[in-house]
Amino acid sequence: MENRIKILSEMLINQIAAGEVVERPASVVKELLENAVDAGASEIRLEIQQAGTSQILVTDNGQGMTLEDLSLSIERHATSKIKGLNDLYGLRTMGFRGEALPSIAAVSRLSIRSIPRGAVSGHRLEIWGGEKKRVVEIAGIAGTTVEVNDLFYHTPARLAFLKSLRAEWSRIQSAFERVALGFPEIQMTLYHNGKKVIHLLPTKQRAFRLEELWGKERTSGLIGAEGEEFRIRVQGCISSPQVHLNTGRYLSLIVNRRWVRSPSLYPLILRSYQGLLPQGRFPLAALWMEIPPELVDVNIHPAKQEVRFSHEEWVLEVVRKALGRALKNLLPLEAKSRTAFLPPFREAASEEFPFLREPQAALASPAAFPSSRPLQGSGEEADGASEAAPNFSRPPVYGEAGPFSGLFLLGQVYRSYLLAVGESGLLVVDQHAAHERVLYEKFLERRRQGGVASQFLLTPLVLELSPTDPETVQDLETGLRALGFDWVPGKGPSYRITAIPQELSPAQAAEAVQEIFETVTSGRETADHSDQAERLLKTLACHGAIKAGQSLTEAEMRSLLRELDRAEQPSHCPHGRPLWFLLSLDEIERRFRRK
Ligand SMILES: Nc1ncnc2c1ncn2[C@@H]1O[C@H](COP(=O)(O)OP(=O)(O)OP(=O)(O)O)[C@@H](O)[C@H]1O
Ligand SMILES: [Mg+2]
Repeated sequence: MENRIKILSEMLINQIAAGEVVERPASVVKELLENAVDAGASEIRLEIQQAGTSQILVTDNGQGMTLEDLSLSIERHATSKIKGLNDLYGLRTMGFRGEALPSIAAVSRLSIRSIPRGAVSGHRLEIWGGEKKRVVEIAGIAGTTVEVNDLFYHTPARLAFLKSLRAEWSRIQSAFERVALGFPEIQMTLYHNGKKVIHLLPTKQRAFRLEELWGKERTSGLIGAEGEEFRIRVQGCISSPQVHLNTGRYLSLIVNRRWVRSPSLYPLILRSYQGLLPQGRFPLAALWMEIPPELVDVNIHPAKQEVRFSHEEWVLEVVRKALGRALKNLLPLEAKSRTAFLPPFREAASEEFPFLREPQAALASPAAFPSSRPLQGSGEEADGASEAAPNFSRPPVYGEAGPFSGLFLLGQVYRSYLLAVGESGLLVVDQHAAHERVLYEKFLERRRQGGVASQFLLTPLVLELSPTDPETVQDLETGLRALGFDWVPGKGPSYRITAIPQELSPAQAAEAVQEIFETVTSGRETADHSDQAERLLKTLACHGAIKAGQSLTEAEMRSLLRELDRAEQPSHCPHGRPLWFLLSLDEIERRFRRK
């Protein structure tokens, strides 16, 4: 019998390998831009015709190639970037495999002109479908121009896989953007069908490059995030929870100047916003990381778009902390200087203008202020009202000076909102949402630490439950135990609950557990797609929280504000609704046309 196994020709090998590296025009663009970057260019020009299907042209002013290098550059496994295995673990270049050019050469009509730095002449090499056509001498300025014509012209099957020109063009733009984010000091220009689309000035400031790429509108509200630990540095900016999009496109991670996808970092970013954004919405984030190259393995993905970290937990920790700090810094009011701020309702005013007392009564009328606590003058015993309002309307004591508790508390309105005022404006807090946030974080922390703060019930709560899938119930039980619940089995499908978390009253606990079980056993899809453990936290927080319509004592209000000071993310409730808004002094002045 004749041998069936044959060694493939070099050309066929290249064509097959090309499938991995050059999947579409945008992958060619990425490879060529990276080669220009590796050549030390300070200026790169990318010209595209027909979304890259008819032409991709990259011109750089990098170090160029000699004739020998030029000929070698299109050989498989020929690279100037690494010499041995060890170099892979200290990689400072974008490329290292020596595969990109031969792969591109195999599936297009390729021409490379290159003039080495310091020389005035060089060579142009032409190669069609992997076959060398000719080399000619050329003169000009130093640098390299790679021209890729008729991509996939002799692999029509591959052409058929391309999406519409529009989709390919959009991927090319992303490829351009990704390299541009990693190298803000390189001047870069992009043309499509002869028209200039974007021109990026060289800059030392990443923020400036980001603004040029994403636009002023998208970037103006971003906040800085940074951190450094374990020789890992992260720096960048993220959106505040008020800004969100229906796409995750504006999440960019750049590791040692390489834009990467990271299966572990994306979820981490989204988790940092958990409970801050409405369902299905995404934040914006551009994070630049510098990680010692020996901790990063780039050689795990054919297009080098994914990396693996050898101490992933360090990386995650640094990023998590940086994001946490940045989001926490979004507090409404500065706790620092309050010199310009005067407490409201000064007694002098109310004596001079007695009618000013009227509006206070009006404010109180929509069942708002508990009658024992009228919103009154500064309380310096001016008119006897202070008796009815002990402490409350005294001038503010800023000793505690948290960003919320340090404000001058005006009181509760509509039995649902707290009003407080500070130097920068008037703050309105939704009492239910705020308390929900506080409880949610407490439960979260408890679960993290595995500690339990339970209250034991003298009379167990008896819960009747409809029979259900034992596995689901088991998960739920574990979750509940971690949060401070305990029980003994009752008769049939019922529980006798013997301990509940400290923060909940027995009635609230019973309601919460009932709701949790009902949702799970009914198999009903909720609008909330977070996992079960997360939903458990939210449900408990929601049931345990002060309701709207509940009047609060001054001490309760103050304690809630103090808790908000301590909260990690005191801006949105776990369902994504805001906890407060600020009517800024600026806004007030604009409304009265003082500005
Ligand atoms: N624009 C350029 N300027 C100067 N030299 C270049 C340029 N493009 C490619 N080269 C040279 O050609 C070689 C081969 O390039 P190629 O992209 O195929 O491989 P690589 O960049 O070394 O590795 P990878 O396949 O991972 O990209 C490079 O190592 C480099 O020496
Ligand atoms: Mg390369």
